[in-house]
Parts: sequence; C-alpha cells; structure tokens
Amino acid sequence: MIVKPKVYIARRVSKEVQEYISNFCDLEMNEGDEILSREGIIKNYNYIDGLITIGTKIDEEFLDSMPNLKVVSNISVGYDNFVIKDMKKKKIVGTNTPDILNDTVADLTFGLILSLARRIPELDRITKAGMWEKVYPEEYVGTEVHHKTLGIIGMGRIGEAVAKRAKLGFDMDVLYYNRHRKEEIENKLGVKYSSKDKLIKNSDFIVILTPLTEETYHFIDAREFNLMKKSAIIINVSRGQTINELALIDALKTGKIAGAGLDVFEKEPTDKNNPLLRMDNVVTLPHIGSGTWKTRNDMSMMAAENMVSALQGNIPKNLVEELA
Ligand code: DGY
Repeated sequence: MIVKPKVYIARRVSKEVQEYISNFCDLEMNEGDEILSREGIIKNYNYIDGLITIGTKIDEEFLDSMPNLKVVSNISVGYDNFVIKDMKKKKIVGTNTPDILNDTVADLTFGLILSLARRIPELDRITKAGMWEKVYPEEYVGTEVHHKTLGIIGMGRIGEAVAKRAKLGFDMDVLYYNRHRKEEIENKLGVKYSSKDKLIKNSDFIVILTPLTEETYHFIDAREFNLMKKSAIIINVSRGQTINELALIDALKTGKIAGAGLDVFEKEPTDKNNPLLRMDNVVTLPHIGSGTWKTRNDMSMMAAENMVSALQGNIPKNLVEELA
C-alpha cells in the first residue's frame, strides 16, 4: 500500500483545489473563516509532511515542533514569514505564488488612490446619511489623479502593473525607486528611475510595493514624512512594517501629508483602537489586495501544485529563490 504524504491547509480553499491535492496527498483542511494559528498547527497537526498557509512564521521553534515537515507552500507572493536561515538549516522547501496576482493588486492600488483623491468612502458615508443637501459640496471636492506624479517604491511585477495603469490610463508621470534599476521597464513604459528621497519629495502619490526585508523595515519613517509634499497621499499594499505606523499617525495628525490608503498594518488584524481607523483622510482595508475569487483560487491552485511537485521530489516551479 502506498502511503500518501500528509498535507494540512491552514485556510479554506475551493473544492477544485482540494480535489487536486487529494489525488496525491492525504489532506486535512481548516474549515473555519480564519487562518489556523501557528500554535493551533503545532498542537493539532505536528505530524504533517506539507503545510499550505499564509503568513505563518516558519522559524526554528516551529520546525522543531513539526518533525516530518518538508514543504511549506505559501498562498501569497510575500514570504516574509519564512525565516530563511532556519528553513535552510533544516532543508525545508518553501514556495510562493508570484505573478498571478499582479493585475488584481494593481487594480486595488488604484482603488485606494482614487478613493483618497476623490474622497469616495467619505462621500459615500455622507450621501447615505442623507446629508447631500446639508453639506457645501466645496468642502468635499477632491484632488486630481490624472497627470499627477506617482512614485512607486519597489518596481517588481506588481509595480510594473501599477506603472502601466498610471502611464496608459491616467497619463501620470511615474517615478520609481528600486534596489536595481529596471531599464527595460523604463523603455517600455516611460517611467523614470529616481533616488528614494527625490521620489519622496516630488510625488503626489507614493505607493509602497517593496517586500518586507531587514532593509525595508520602517523604510518610510519620520524623516521621509518630513520630506513629502503636504498634499502627498501614501498608499501601502505591501507589508505594514515597511512604514513606521506611529510616524504615519503623527504625519497625518500634524498635516505633514494629506492622506493614506492602507491595505496592510504593522500588526494584523490591526487594533480596534488604532487612531488610523478614526481618520477621514485614511482609507483602510483588511489586507485584501489579491482578494478576488478568481485570483485567490488561482493562487490556491498554484500553492497546491507547488506542494505536490515538491512532495514528489521535484523542484517546484515557485521555489523561493533564497531556498534554492
Ligand atoms: C501576498 O500575496 O503577499 C499578499 O499580500 C497576501 O499575503
């Protein structure tokens, strides 16, 4: 009798994905609405060979508690939950889901830009409260997006999708900052490479798309907010810890910048008392950048394929490069 490897999925996925994995593995899945916690995984599933998850910290302590674990497959492009040196030491395979979410996250980025610039959530609340007649519309006029300057910090694949929308859809000037210059994208889209500080000083909208690493932790801090235009709007769709949230709160309170659109927070879920949740010039989302049915399903299927491939002893298509 062939013994199938045991796989646990910490967040519910579609029947189609479950069926695919079940052809190759013994599958158990969290049926709840939330991702099962790290402690819950250790307590109940310490015998598994493979884990499909989002955001679970995979470090030495976790790996010591999961003696059979060989593969961790993220349903996310980000893999800041992987402690690479600990995974390397134990020869754990780690995979992610790049590319298929690029356009979906870029769409949401523009959703946030437009929401802030044209004050859509604020005006929605006012209209629904029956206050249309009572307010002076001048109080609620917004700012333009088209022909303004967009600064993209982190010109990866999602950055390119945002730049494309900005250039071709909104006729914006696009500056970008990245560890490595991307001349191919410059030539293709007409975006301009800039130093970090120049981008921050000159942009009307600043979009953070850089992955979270030791170098990008608090990449935007009080110093950077002091350099921004007072009219600047900052959008974060990468990881909350790339911005010092206390410095952001101060910058918004003291009028150093005009607004923020946040899909991510330093701590998630964010605290109910976070002052950012009470500011009209801040639009908040619950880390939902890739959250369309199709994209989430495609990501889950990709994570499943990575898992099956790795457990079969192959090099999975989306092996995280630091673990190769
Ligand atoms: C990603 O894919 O990294 C998204 O942010 C979800 O975590």
